[in-house]
Amino acid sequence: MSTSTLELAPRREAAHAPPPLRVLETAMALVAPELQAVEGRLAELLASEVAIIPEVGGHLSFAGGKRFRPLLTLLAAEAAGFADARRVTAAAVGELLHTATLLHDDVIDGGEFRRGRPAARMAYGNGMAVLTGDFCLARALQAMAHDGDLRAVRAMSDMVTRMAEGEVAQLEVAGDWSMTRERYFAVIERKTAALIAWCASVGRLVETRWVDPLEAYGRALGFAFQIADDVLDMRSDAARTGKSRAQDLREGKATLPVLIACERDPSLRERLHAFVGRGAPVDEAGVLVLARQIDQSGALQAADQVARDYAQQAIAALAPLPAGPARDALASLATYVARRDA
Ligand code: IPE
Ligand code: IPE
Ligand code: MG
Ligand code: MG
Repeated sequence: MSTSTLELAPRREAAHAPPPLRVLETAMALVAPELQAVEGRLAELLASEVAIIPEVGGHLSFAGGKRFRPLLTLLAAEAAGFADARRVTAAAVGELLHTATLLHDDVIDGGEFRRGRPAARMAYGNGMAVLTGDFCLARALQAMAHDGDLRAVRAMSDMVTRMAEGEVAQLEVAGDWSMTRERYFAVIERKTAALIAWCASVGRLVETRWVDPLEAYGRALGFAFQIADDVLDMRSDAARTGKSRAQDLREGKATLPVLIACERDPSLRERLHAFVGRGAPVDEAGVLVLARQIDQSGALQAADQVARDYAQQAIAALAPLPAGPARDALASLATYVARRDA
């Protein structure tokens, strides 16, 4: 695990805001039995006669993720009055797709830790991790297709295509510190927001009139979610996130906090070029110095603000939905996402 000793500034919090995890727990209480059902459904979806598949998939999937996507799916279904049992399947499928992307992501990023334990690729090898990720993708599509709802199959295949584009686009720009904000947003819209928007519309299974507002909510929420992740990567230690600190820098990822820091201090871009993201072994001391300089530029707080702005956009998009506890919980999720610390 990273032995980083970065001393980064703590985030300033609103005076009376409840702690982020408390917000999540309150939202979870609204759909608690179904969240439990999602765990069983997920195990069913991971099942295979090829016993290594549930083993590798389970290594990641049952290692204590936040289950943010199933929670979002179930709350959105509740807010849109979609009581059909397929909402549990959609919630499990969203988490299964997330599992697939994380299995692949750790191979591409060279991630060593995930959810506080060795990444699946460390335990089973890159090949097993990639192929189990492929199984998860295929199984997720199968689970939606077997219902025979063509609208749902279309929504899902469009979203999965977009996610794949996002991962490829991200890899293409790795190590390119002359990235622009425009390209950054194009990548995160695909790799993260597309899935979160799909979850928010319950795979477009909800009544047509709620699809657009829920997708708009989910897309803005997805932007806030990834920006918060990119800030957390720079700010939080592995004990909180279960992932190595400043990993994005080692991978040559020009995330929003890095872009903002470079806008504020153009000489930083040259130093990034000199140190990281070129495939050579990374100079650890150099990474930590750069991370400190990025923090000292105030870029983390500036990126926090962008995440909060997207969270506000997400909340505004909920206005057409029927008022009630589920809609309130969706709004609180947006607040949680922009302030999360894990
Ligand atoms: C991590 O997602 C990957 C991103 C899209 C940023 P989560 O932060 O939801 O990870 P888990 O599921 O809680 O481990
Ligand atoms: C999100 O990007 C990954 C996916 C959408 C698959 P990251 O690379 O930042 O995710 P973490 O930080 O490794 O979880
Ligand atoms: Mg990663
Ligand atoms: Mg990250």
